[in-house]
Amino acid sequence: MPKILAVTNQKGGVGKTTTTVNLAASLAVRGRRVLLIDLDPQANATMGAGVDKRAVRETVYDVLLGRAPLDRVEQRSPSGGFAVIPANRELAGAEVELVDEAHREARLKQALAAVDGRFDYVLIDCPPALNLLTVNALCAARAVMIPMQCEYYALEGLSDLVQTIKKVRAHLNPTLEIEGLLLTMFDPRNMLGAQVSEQLKRHFGEKVYRTVIPRNIRLAEAPSYGMPALYHDKQSKGAAAYLALADEILARSGPEAAP
Ligand SMILES: Nc1ncnc2c1ncn2[C@@H]1O[C@H](COP(=O)(O)OP(=O)(O)O)[C@@H](O)[C@H]1O
Ligand SMILES: [Mg+2]
Repeated sequence: MPKILAVTNQKGGVGKTTTTVNLAASLAVRGRRVLLIDLDPQANATMGAGVDKRAVRETVYDVLLGRAPLDRVEQRSPSGGFAVIPANRELAGAEVELVDEAHREARLKQALAAVDGRFDYVLIDCPPALNLLTVNALCAARAVMIPMQCEYYALEGLSDLVQTIKKVRAHLNPTLEIEGLLLTMFDPRNMLGAQVSEQLKRHFGEKVYRTVIPRNIRLAEAPSYGMPALYHDKQSKGAAAYLALADEILARSGPEAAP
């Protein structure tokens, strides 16, 4: 079974998509077989992985509605060395269209049962909401990765997310864990980063990754070239940070995760 991680935070602009794309590329250069699933109708992860959302015929939307099997929708990131299940605007309608369907929270989980041995990691980029799409990701995942921006209001809303995770655990996915909390857009000139980090460690202890993602212009630029930062500028601090995160995750999961 692949390790399925949902990259989630109902706040927008905290680094979910940047993390999903760059972690996918970093795990891939470490020899892991990675599938990225774009579960946000904005489709930024699709574009960031170098797949044109305007050119795809079938997307994760068709998978959720049971109209297409996962492997038919799968694309190869031309720039990233991993596979992609793309999204586009159509996905915004999925919630309404699934409203009367049985097991609508488990659509993604059911679809993922088919990938089995082909991947080591599946990374799901969630939308900025605790909606049915996010619940599908939480239902399918083994664990949740929570990117947190180093800012004053960073912890606000975190308890809602933790409550949602608990509810999903109680009703849908009893083995769901928090994989880790990731500090993003860290600026060493700003004291807030250290404060947010302290508070998080008090609440979540070892779950807070040692790796911190710095604010780095290359990470922000790379999507406009349709590639992960690792390929846009391998020497950049941003690319190095996501490689370090991949190594930390691999080290945490122990020898069973060897390729
Ligand atoms: N570490 C970083 N340094 C600089 N810019 C970043 C960094 N992480 C994300 N960004 C930029 O911040 C914006 C929001 O990030 P994004 O990953 O799209 O967040 P989310 O998916 O949570 O909405 C994007 O424009 C992205 O390029
Ligand atoms: Mg996003």
